Amino acid sequence: MQRLLITGGAGFIGANFVHHWRRARPDNVIVVLDALTYAGNPANLNALHGAAKFHFVHGDVCDGDLLKRLFREHHFDVVVHFAAESHVDRSIVSSEPFVRTNVLGTQALLDAALTAWKPDFRGKRFHHISTDEVYGSLGRDDPAFTETTPYDPRSPYAASKAASDFLVRACAHTHGLPLSITNCSNNYGPYQFPEKLIPLMIINALTGKTLPVYGDGRNVRDWLYVEDHCAAVARVIERGRAGETYNVGGGAEMANIDLVTMLCATVDARFADDPLLAARFGECPAARGASCRDLIGFVADRPGHDRRYAICADKLSDEVGYRPTTSFADGIGRTLDWYLANETWWRDIQRGAYQDWIKLNYGARA
Ligand code: NAD
Ligand code: TYD
Repeated sequence: MQRLLITGGAGFIGANFVHHWRRARPDNVIVVLDALTYAGNPANLNALHGAAKFHFVHGDVCDGDLLKRLFREHHFDVVVHFAAESHVDRSIVSSEPFVRTNVLGTQALLDAALTAWKPDFRGKRFHHISTDEVYGSLGRDDPAFTETTPYDPRSPYAASKAASDFLVRACAHTHGLPLSITNCSNNYGPYQFPEKLIPLMIINALTGKTLPVYGDGRNVRDWLYVEDHCAAVARVIERGRAGETYNVGGGAEMANIDLVTMLCATVDARFADDPLLAARFGECPAARGASCRDLIGFVADRPGHDRRYAICADKLSDEVGYRPTTSFADGIGRTLDWYLANETWWRDIQRGAYQDWIKLNYGARA
C-alpha cells in the first residue's frame, strides 16, 4: 500500500492520472493538493470526493508550511508533481505566475520532501512532470528530441518548466532525492481546459465560432492521448530508474492546420451519424449539412511561436517497456465524444472568467 501526494490533481492531466492510479491500485491513499486556479476544477474529481483513501486539499504548492504538515500527516511514499501554470499564451501576457508556481512551487515541494524523507530515501520517489517544450524548437528535418538534447526554452512557460527540471535534478544530485522526470508532448483528452488547441476547437466548432489558427498553421506538434501519458507516468514511477528522465510522445506529429481539418471532418461525421446533435448544437455548420471547415480562420501568430516539437521515446520503450496504444484517430474521436457527453462541464467554464481570456487573447489577434 502506497501513499501518494499528487499536486495539480484537479487539472487536466493530474485528474486523469488520479483516476488512472485509483483504478489500478484502489488500496493506495491519494492526497490531491490543488490551488483550484482557473484551470483546476473540483468537478474533474467528482467520482472521488468523499471516497475512502482519497483526500482533497485546497492549497498552494508554494505554501511550505502546508506541504510540511501534509508530509507529517500522510507519510507519503510517492510525490507526483503536476501543479503548474501550463498555457504558453498566458505566459506571454504575464510570466510572474509561471515563475511563482512552476519555479518557487517546485522548490517548496522539494524542500518539504527533503525535510520529511532525508536521510533514508528507501521506497520513496519524487516524480516531476515536465514538457518537450524545454528542448526548444526543431526545423522540419531535424531529428526528434532525446533525453540528452540540450535545453533551449523559448517561451516564459518553457523557461519556468526548465528551471523547475533543473531544481529537481540539482536536489537529486546534491541530496540524493530519488527523482524521475517525464518530458511529454502535447496531451489531449477528457477534462482539458478549453484554452488549449483541441478543446478550444471542439467547443468553437460546436458553437459555430471561428476556429482561430495561428500564423500559417504549419507549426507541428506531437499529440499524446492523456490516458497513454498517465499509463507511461505510472510505469516510470514503478519501473523507471531513479535519477532518470524519460521522454513520452504520442507518435502523432501533425501540422496544426491538418489537425484542425481532421477534427472538423470528425465533427461533421458525428453530426451525419446522429441527427440529435443538430438539435443540440444548431450553430454548428454540420447541423445544416455544411462542414466545420468553413469556420477555420487564420489569425495573427503567437509571438516566438515554436515551429516544431518531436519526441524520440525509445528510452521509455526500451527501459520501462511502455509505448502508447491510442492512435490519433481513436483519441480525437474519444475526446470529441467526451466533450459531447459533458456539455455542462464546458458550459459552466464558459460562464466564468474564461470569456475574459478569450477576449484578451483573440481580440488582439483579429
Ligand atoms: P492544467 O493547467 O490543466 O492544470 C494545472 C493544475 O495545477 C490546475 O488544477 C491548477 O489549479 C493547479 N495549480 C496551478 N497553480 C497551483 C499552485 N500554485 N498550487 C497548487 N496547484 C496549482 O495543466 P495540465 O495540462 O494538466 O498540465 C499538468 C502538468 O503537465 C504541468 O506541469 C504541465 O507543465 C505539464 N505538461 C502539460 C502538457 C499538456 O499538453 N497539457 C504537455 C507537457 C507537459
Ligand atoms: P497549445 O494547445 O496552446 O499548446 P502548446 O503551445 O503548448 O504546443 O497550442 C498547440 C498549437 O496550436 C500551437 O502551435 C499553437 C496553436 N494554436 C492555434 O493555432 N490556435 C489556438 O487558438 C491555440 C490555443 C493554439
